Amino acid sequence: MVRVLSGVQPTGEMHLGNYLGAFRSWSAEQYESDAFFCIVDLHAITVDFDPKQLASRTLHTATSLLAAGLDPSRCTIFVQSQVHEHSELAWILECTATMGEMRRMTQFKEKGAGQESVSLGLFAYPVLMAADILAYDADRVPVGDDQRQHLELARDLAHRFNARYGETFVVPDASVPRVASRVMDLQDPTSKMSKSAQSHLGTIMMLDDPTVIERKIRRAVTDSGTEVLYDPENKPGISNLLELLAAASGGAPDQLASGYPNYGSLKSAATEAVAEMLRPARERFAAFSRDPGEVRRVLSDGAQRAGEVAASTLRRTHAAIGILT
Ligand code: TYM
Repeated sequence: MVRVLSGVQPTGEMHLGNYLGAFRSWSAEQYESDAFFCIVDLHAITVDFDPKQLASRTLHTATSLLAAGLDPSRCTIFVQSQVHEHSELAWILECTATMGEMRRMTQFKEKGAGQESVSLGLFAYPVLMAADILAYDADRVPVGDDQRQHLELARDLAHRFNARYGETFVVPDASVPRVASRVMDLQDPTSKMSKSAQSHLGTIMMLDDPTVIERKIRRAVTDSGTEVLYDPENKPGISNLLELLAAASGGAPDQLASGYPNYGSLKSAATEAVAEMLRPARERFAAFSRDPGEVRRVLSDGAQRAGEVAASTLRRTHAAIGILT
């Protein structure tokens, strides 16, 4: 059976980009593969964070994954720090990675830009991510478009390690959704939707209720002209709305365009489709939130199962590099 792994940072509330770029494919993967989904709390501490909120955000993220449709009887959901093999494998891979390739990582350049000093952890972030993936012999990694470069690094490290020390790691492939792999900010459609956006109006949260979704899409920045066309270069705002509509209701963004005579009608259709798509997640979130004990049980079972797989990979890795056993 194909093995799948992916991860999400516990940044608090999840947004529509996380849902469309990742969680939706994760829910599909659990029926087709042996799937592992990881809440990467050790990645979240590479930038400023609030220790008082880390645990509650981790639980909130786990609840969001269940709400998005992950079923713990079909996949393994766990917290990265609860499986210590991730950090141990990361160290070994750090001895395979080079400073030069780390410096080329665009996410590091973006997050580090303008900072007086950045943590060594932020620099090494992509190697820990490679360890997350390689520890599970993952064949496929379902992610949004922004993670492609990190996936390339994981592949390079696996190839290099295998060439140096003998076949040890499976070389993973990225799997990026056909539409909405890069959901853009509604207020600034040239930037990707994220929680750290300037204006909260630009980011639709997974748990936003329909009136909030309606307000955000109604106020979404559109482009000059009046014609609804799928042209991400020249009409980034309208193209983003077409992608959202396509992702939420099916179909292709360029073909859907001709069905809308003006921007207003497109916005109404996108609002309805997005609100309807997110409705089950919102309802399930409310139900799971009433039982935090159950969420903790899911994570504890998940860590146990993930730990067994990761421990076996780490043993194989130690043997490959000749560590005394
Ligand atoms: P993170 O926590 O930033 O995002 C989680 C997932 O959501 C996707 N995503 C988006 N997709 C489309 N449009 C957007 N605007 C958008 N914003 C976020 C991301 O691509 C991602 O799939 N480094 C990773 C976490 C990670 C990981 C891993 C992923 C750690 N270890 C191992 C895969 C495998 C990250 O920060 O994702």
